[in-house]
Amino acid sequence: MENFVYSIPTKVYFGKGQIKNLGRETAGYAKKVLLVYGGGSIKRNGIYDAVVDQLKAHDIAWEELSGVEPNPRLTTVQKGADICKEKKIQAVLPIGGGSTLDCAKVIAAAAGYDGDSWDLVIDPGKITCVLPIIAVLTLAATGSEMDTFAVITNEATQDKIGTGSPLMRPVVSFMDPEYTFSVSAYQTGAGTADMMSHIFEAYFSNTQGYMQDRVAEALLKTCIRYGVKAIENPDDYEARANLMWVSSWAINDFISLGKPVAWTVHPMEHELSAYYDITHGAGLAILTPHWMRYVLSDATVDKFYTYGVNVWNIPEDDDRYKVANEAIDRTAAYFKALGMPSTLKEVGIDASLLPVMAKKAAARLKGAYVELTEEQVLDIFRKAL
Ligand code: NZQ
Ligand code: ZN
Repeated sequence: MENFVYSIPTKVYFGKGQIKNLGRETAGYAKKVLLVYGGGSIKRNGIYDAVVDQLKAHDIAWEELSGVEPNPRLTTVQKGADICKEKKIQAVLPIGGGSTLDCAKVIAAAAGYDGDSWDLVIDPGKITCVLPIIAVLTLAATGSEMDTFAVITNEATQDKIGTGSPLMRPVVSFMDPEYTFSVSAYQTGAGTADMMSHIFEAYFSNTQGYMQDRVAEALLKTCIRYGVKAIENPDDYEARANLMWVSSWAINDFISLGKPVAWTVHPMEHELSAYYDITHGAGLAILTPHWMRYVLSDATVDKFYTYGVNVWNIPEDDDRYKVANEAIDRTAAYFKALGMPSTLKEVGIDASLLPVMAKKAAARLKGAYVELTEEQVLDIFRKAL
């Protein structure tokens, strides 16, 4: 285990009715906020009204930026940053899933930056002054409610890139599992696949972290226990609550502290959603089993064996490859049970852009669990077709 600094300071209000604390908490940071939200789900399920009631009750003024796209775009970030500057906004209050939260994070950073917002995406070192972010989560998936990252798409260059800064970690997050009852079966499945992928990205590392890995296994088991349950019964509070809490802990740094590793499947998927605007979790569900099979070797088989025994309860066996392969098969089958596609063709991707996407993804894989060349990434894409 390597040295690390533990600092995960987001204050979380978790559970039914916690929104009643939003006005008081927000008043501690701002007299005027920017509400950021997506395509309107929060108006249909009443969350918008609950937030606005809180702001009114505490005399907090607000401006609004609506229409944040899934796979949020740079132009929308720029719009939000302009409002912040013009209207002297003091805090940013996103209500939604990862796309809305990510967009709000970069808006909050761009509000204090004079240049092009894209600079902050390609060079996180330029993020030096960020408005407080108070998040209301409505979809369990990305962990953006408690992490330092944001992923933005530059539609002009078709680049989708993650940026990050401790300054962009929300100061407060409201997480009411009932807010996720209205999430569709597809987005519930994609969200669960996304959380599982965040855990895999940290779990499969060449640095030891026994304690971190046992926590990671517990988080994976929670996804497996509750993902399909939430799809079958969208109002199952325990299922929604467990998924929501895993979403945060999968990526809030805890399971990766002390065992750093560059992510692999995420940079590959971000190319797919940059070029084809597909749902992030669906892309991960397609690629992950192929990546696992590709990197399984004498150097990695022990880790996949441990994953199979501890997460999937596969009986121990002298044939370590048998257990490792069964673990990968079980992973693929679970993504299927979550209603996720298993081939790129199913989400409208053909072979034409695979080489350009492989080139861009491979440039980001230095320091990965198994470093892959451009040709190897292309090979995995082709196997996933
Ligand atoms: O826009 P609205 O109308 O709100 O509808 C959204 C959207 O259509 C809907 N939705 C959200 N909450 C709902 C709901 N529908 C009904 N009831 C609710 N309660 O769900 C759709 C998808 O929302 P989105 O925010 O796009 O999903 P998700 O949370 O999966 O976020 C995906 C984005 O986050 C990035 C992804 O790349 C992608 O751009 N990521 C962010 C990360 C981070 N910040 O750390 C890490 C991840 O790996 C990921 O890359
Ligand atoms: Zn993800």
